[in-house]
Amino acid sequence: MTKEAGSRSSAPLGVFDSGLGGLTVVRALRLALPHEDIVYLGDTARVPYGTKGPDTIVKYALACSRHLVGRGVKALVIACNTVSAVAPERLRVDLDLPVLSVIEPGARAAVAATRSGKIGILATAGTVASGAYPRAVSQLSTRAETVGQAAPLLVPLAEEGWLEGEVPRLAVRRYLEPLARARVDVVVLGCTHYPLLRRVIEEEAKVMLGESVRVVDSATATAHDTTAFLEERGLLNTQEARGTVKLLVTDLAASFAASAARFLGEDATDVELVDL
Ligand code: DGL
Repeated sequence: MTKEAGSRSSAPLGVFDSGLGGLTVVRALRLALPHEDIVYLGDTARVPYGTKGPDTIVKYALACSRHLVGRGVKALVIACNTVSAVAPERLRVDLDLPVLSVIEPGARAAVAATRSGKIGILATAGTVASGAYPRAVSQLSTRAETVGQAAPLLVPLAEEGWLEGEVPRLAVRRYLEPLARARVDVVVLGCTHYPLLRRVIEEEAKVMLGESVRVVDSATATAHDTTAFLEERGLLNTQEARGTVKLLVTDLAASFAASAARFLGEDATDVELVDL
């Protein structure tokens, strides 16, 4: 390993999202890459991005990325599906470091899982409107086709921690109806927040689409791709200690600690308020 690669490898991995939902990706990254230090930026002052137009999303994404570049990260993981749907090319042009995103890994996992070739995508309105998942799937398979369904109510339900019972179940059922009509055999959780509702989504999908339906999570697939990427580039952190997580947020709400712990799966102790 060159000296330069050695010092780059000990630098943290930068991860960002419109809010705290992207901590589901950090959780998956920490399982796959326990020795990596991670600096996570959640743009909690401006969440949600999923209802905003592409120009605004690109502008916010550039501000988040530049802040993380200023923190000396060795690579950037866009945890937000909505940003991944509209901004990665622009970020790659503007920033002088590797940029990974969640759409291709999610699409690849879906293509690998489908037997019928019919893939359902649950995502924000912005991600569905961008056509990013159908584009990514069509590059991987000429046979597979996608049906997109915006599921906006699942974001506040996950934020609230309302993960079980009648309310999430009814919302999930309603969002799965068009996917059931199209007879998909894979459902992609195309939004940072949906892995928290995985149990309800999986149970309802089985009732509506049959026991063999597969629910695919882009967080796990992204962690897998990030591991392969760091390995290939000789950028894996070789420290023996467990990696640290530093959280940067643009707004610190009273509900922050509970919400962050829900998405991350552990308590967040190192938190800093930043202004972009
Ligand atoms: N992070 C967004 C995504 O994965 C969901 C929340 C938002 O709308 O900003 O698409």
